[in-house]
Amino acid sequence: MALLPRLRQRPPELPLHLPAHGRGRALAPGLRALLRGGGAGWDLPELPEIGGPLEPEGAVAEAQAAAAARLGAARCWFGVNGASGLLQSALLGLTNPGQRVLLPRNLHRSLLHGCLLAQLRPVLFDLPFDAATGLWRPPTPALLEAALAQALAAGPLAAVVLVSPSYQGLVGDLEALIAVAHRHRLPVLVDEAHGAHLGLDPRLPAPALACGADLVVQSLQKAAGGLAQSAVLLQGPASAVAAAAIERGLLWLQTSSPSGLLLASAEAALGHLHSPAGRRQLARALDRGEALRQSLRRAGLEPLANHDPLRLALPTGPLGLNGLDADAWLLDRGVIAELPEPGCLTFCLGLKPPRALERRLPQWLLQLRAALGGAPLPPFTPPPLPAVAEPELPLERAWRAPRRAVPLEQAAGELAAEPLCPYPPGIPLLIPGERIDGPRAAWLQEQRRLWPGQIADTVSVVAR
Ligand SMILES: Cc1ncc(COP(=O)(O)O)c(C=O)c1O
Repeated sequence: MALLPRLRQRPPELPLHLPAHGRGRALAPGLRALLRGGGAGWDLPELPEIGGPLEPEGAVAEAQAAAAARLGAARCWFGVNGASGLLQSALLGLTNPGQRVLLPRNLHRSLLHGCLLAQLRPVLFDLPFDAATGLWRPPTPALLEAALAQALAAGPLAAVVLVSPSYQGLVGDLEALIAVAHRHRLPVLVDEAHGAHLGLDPRLPAPALACGADLVVQSLQKAAGGLAQSAVLLQGPASAVAAAAIERGLLWLQTSSPSGLLLASAEAALGHLHSPAGRRQLARALDRGEALRQSLRRAGLEPLANHDPLRLALPTGPLGLNGLDADAWLLDRGVIAELPEPGCLTFCLGLKPPRALERRLPQWLLQLRAALGGAPLPPFTPPPLPAVAEPELPLERAWRAPRRAVPLEQAAGELAAEPLCPYPPGIPLLIPGERIDGPRAAWLQEQRRLWPGQIADTVSVVAR
């Protein structure tokens, strides 16, 4: 047996990765009780009294209605294939084949796959770039307004997608961004995979639903105490999107045997997070996140100024380190970060951070700096991307086209047949059907150097 023994292994010293329940410490209490029951009595099919996410009657329908009421949503659907599955269902529900959808460059790959499945034409808008960390920053309303104007000048759009918060806990002025899209009468889908906890403490930004989003997808393992794959799709109270179209999208992608455990995880995670006890737990975790930040600052380590104290993102450039090298060093010592990137290392503290966090993480980071650190890295090169871009060849044609592999050095002028997508964060650096121009080819070569082992020496291009 290969997997089971590994799942039973003792945890490392500082597991600072997702799920946010932290190896069960902050699992939603109802779910913990279910699992403690032993056996698998909960592993039930869609019996009449239980139903499923698309059934009008039954316990799942009741739980979804209760969650919708609690969160101020018009409708709520639980999902068992992560935020990925629900984002894709939402795209299918919002659009018809051939339509154009505006998405940010930092889109998660699941949205790209959703565009492929729905046969959409993605229109990608560029984002402000932070040369010190190599991170994309949230768009400003003015930037979105300009991108929309440019995209609409080339033809109609069916919807706008926004990602908020980012993996590293960055949030823009979401209310104003949504208002910009609404002024153009476009529905907005917000990928809030990392933000189920927003609005539940005064230190956190408002959630997408309160900012006026039409559809919102949350992953319930990233910021709530749910199991991996449990997720929720919410419809805003003022949204005119047809619920029947969303349900059709869900039907197309959802398994015919949704796991009772994962559905219960969605109910328990949302119920607990929004309860007084859940908010208290969140507040304690935020306190600890803020205290950790202060002690890192005192030690001369400056975390990224983001909007979520539970995401500790440490710029590694000032330490003279690539975040992937820093991660490898820490991994060997039992400190497991969530997201290594060339200029930043993001730790997810979770809803009940490990007890040794405040004492041990600063010590490890100082040792890391002493062992590998050096002169600060030069600034990162911004991606040479147009403000708004559409793949030249439709996604579904480019991705299935006969292809050949060419060395990155010789890729200029070719059409991409596959995405280039380091994982995590799962943000594509190149999209099938995009023309690779000279500056892009040079930038991708630089990315290969910055993401060792994550980007191949060759790229798949559409055969001529
Ligand atoms: C921004 C964003 N959206 C969506 C997803 C997909 O979430 P899930 O893993 O629950 O499918 C991720 C996963 O990392 C993500 O970072």
